[in-house]
Amino acid sequence: MEAALQVLKHVAGEEGFSLDYASYDVGGIAIDRHGVALPDSTVHGCAGAAAILFGSVGGPKWENLPPAEQPERAALLPLRKRFSLFANIRPGLLFPELIDASPLKRERIPEGIDIVCIRELTGGIYFGQPKETRLLENGETEAIDTMVYKTSEIERIAEVAAQTAKTRSGKVCSVDKANVLTTSVLWRKTVTDYFGKHHPDLQLSHMYVDNAAMQLARDPNQFDVLFTENMFGDILSDEMAVICGSLGMMASASLGTGANTHGKPFGLYEPAGGTAPDIAGKGLANPCAQILSAALMLRHSFGMEATASRIEGAVRATVEAGIRTGDIAFGHKAVGTKEMAEAIIARL
Ligand code: IPM
Ligand code: MN
Repeated sequence: MEAALQVLKHVAGEEGFSLDYASYDVGGIAIDRHGVALPDSTVHGCAGAAAILFGSVGGPKWENLPPAEQPERAALLPLRKRFSLFANIRPGLLFPELIDASPLKRERIPEGIDIVCIRELTGGIYFGQPKETRLLENGETEAIDTMVYKTSEIERIAEVAAQTAKTRSGKVCSVDKANVLTTSVLWRKTVTDYFGKHHPDLQLSHMYVDNAAMQLARDPNQFDVLFTENMFGDILSDEMAVICGSLGMMASASLGTGANTHGKPFGLYEPAGGTAPDIAGKGLANPCAQILSAALMLRHSFGMEATASRIEGAVRATVEAGIRTGDIAFGHKAVGTKEMAEAIIARL
């Protein structure tokens, strides 16, 4: 986060815009200081902001808490719900210079990877009710999660996928499990109708999620915009992350329904890689995902496309120049978080 703020301050100074921000505790540090993963003060701070730039929230120290109190579940999920952050956008970008970081063979991805995963984030089995564990009369225990979708929830994420496709090649693949799940039958029908009515110019296809998992590993670039429901998107976006090399490069945006004071979507921007507890506090973590998340924030929540592109270009130029943190070093000398951030700023 320090690295990302440094980058933001640098571009603000250079381009002459002001940066008005405050920091709030969330996750592990909030449990330590306030007793809960998502204190009210943090929610209020977020509510008064135009966007949230989110750090990383877990760690071994809090792993033994009951699941409902753990940093991930008790902070991220309520934040998503509270701010209706229904659209999660995860760019799957692998620079050609980093092909060695991907577990896929070079001949399958000779030019790297450039796809986007759009995941519905506030519906489906994550939030559906009932969600409970209950004791049956015969003494057995039963647990239940409910997968539920409404047409309006499907249509609004379809619109995000369509808008994303318009900035790219116009190709959209909707992923479901319509051969088994009722929610997926509705998903496929709603998506088909919606695109037919509002975006007939786009090239829409459908794929079952099991096949999509396989196709991602076989030939990821057959996709351009991939969009799907909450749990499928959780799983497929991790698969996408690993084929794109390091989690340390993966940014994400979660956009809400409301407009902020800039007339743009309120959103939460976070690296997809988690806390990397093994190297926490050592100054070794790759800051790129957090910096790229800040770029996504400028693009989506502040309408600053040119500045966002500049930051993305500087990250790419730094990696191309062979300046790399340990996770993406591959034969290059590994630099620390601070040096990496400084090298990116130098290229701005
Ligand atoms: C993610 C994470 C979260 C999710 C967890 C931490 C609750 O895996 O953002 O993909 O499952 O959505
Ligand atoms: Mn996940």
